[in-house]
Parts: sequence; structure tokens; C-alpha cells
Amino acid sequence: MRNEISVREARETDLEAIAEIYNQGIEDRIATLETEAKDLSYMTKWFDQHQGRYCVLAAEKGGQLIGWASLNPYSSRCAYDGVADLSVYVAREFRGKGAGWKLLSTLEKKARENKFHKLVLFTFPFNGLGQSLYKKMGFREVGVFQNQGVLDGEFVVVMAMEKLL
Ligand SMILES: CC(C)(COP(=O)(O)OP(=O)(O)OC[C@H]1O[C@@H](n2cnc3c(N)ncnc32)[C@H](O)[C@@H]1OP(=O)(O)O)[C@@H](O)C(=O)NCCC(=O)NCCS
Repeated sequence: MRNEISVREARETDLEAIAEIYNQGIEDRIATLETEAKDLSYMTKWFDQHQGRYCVLAAEKGGQLIGWASLNPYSSRCAYDGVADLSVYVAREFRGKGAGWKLLSTLEKKARENKFHKLVLFTFPFNGLGQSLYKKMGFREVGVFQNQGVLDGEFVVVMAMEKLL
């Protein structure tokens, strides 16, 4: 159907829309310890590092890019080769409408295909939509790092979560 959310592999021509959605997440201070807005040159370098097993997915609705998700390297140590870290960002006006779910379900499938045995993520416990999505997707809380990062001069708590595939 025309207005359904669909998910596909991201392309270089998506990077401006991907940056815009990422920057909303950065501005909202609920998603990441990043505080600087990202430009196209930053995203192009990032995309170059997301090839092969570390893919980027784009969610579309009615021809508009409304969200993205990626598998990121967790560690360069070969013992952790089967572990991927993930990112997921949905445009403000489309949050809470199933795009995150669709992106993560497809990302999980890709992760299996790309021979990862585990997904990990780092999130803020106060990120309500994120918490509810990850728990419903079967992620387990590993633990909480106290005063793990600094955001606008204040310590923040970071929760580690994992899902065995
Ligand atoms: C966190 C974020 C990615 C979640 O994505 P989303 O599209 O808003 O979330 P969804 O609509 O898919 O899921 C939200 C809710 O619907 C549920 N849901 C959606 N589709 C579902 C389905 N098919 N079956 C079951 N549950 C579903 C989710 O589990 C969740 O539960 P809730 O109703 O109890 O809140 C998004 O809100 C966002 O981009 N926020 C800002 C950036 C951010 O925080 N990124 C994460 C960094 S760690």
C-alpha cells in the first residue's frame, strides 16, 4: 500500500535526509551523547564505514525517508567479530508509529544474514519510546553505567542492552 512504511538498504543519496533525522535526535537530547549537528561530509565518511556487514537501512513512507538504522562495529578485537552495535533514529513527526519496530526487525534479519550472533545497544533509561521498543523486541537490560557520559555539562546514566540472535 502507498502509505505503508517500507524498509530498504540506504543509498548515498539518502544521506542528507539521514543527517536531518540524526540531527533531530541530537537536538532532542534523548538519544545520544553527541551534541554537534552532523553535516553531509561527516555522514559521507560515516556511510563509507558502513559497507558490507555494517549496513544502513532506510524507512520510507509515501516516498519520504522517515527513519534509519545501522549496524555499527562494536569492537575492532576479533573476539567480538560476531557482536554489532546498533543505531536507530526516526523523524520527530513519525515517532511512535511503528517505524522503529520495522527498522529494527529488518536490521535484526540483516544482522543474522551478516553472521552476527548478538546485537548490543547503549541507551538512556529516560528514552521512553526507545525503552519500550527495545524491550518489546526482546532486548535484555545488561546493566546501567552511572555517570557514564557528560551531556551539556551534566553526567548521564547509560543503559547497556543486548539481544542474542
Ligand atoms: C526510539 C525510536 C527509534 C523508536 O522508534 P519509534 O518509531 O518511535 O517506535 P515504534 O513506534 O516502532 O515503537 C513504539 C511503540 O510501538 C510498539 N510497536 C510498534 N510496532 C509494533 C509491532 N508491529 N508489534 C508490537 N509492538 C509494536 C513498540 O514496541 C512501542 O511500544 P509502546 O506502544 O508501548 O510505546 C524513535 O522514537 C526515535 O527516533 N527517537 C529519537 C531518537 C532515539 O532516541 N534513538 C534511539 C537512540 S538509543
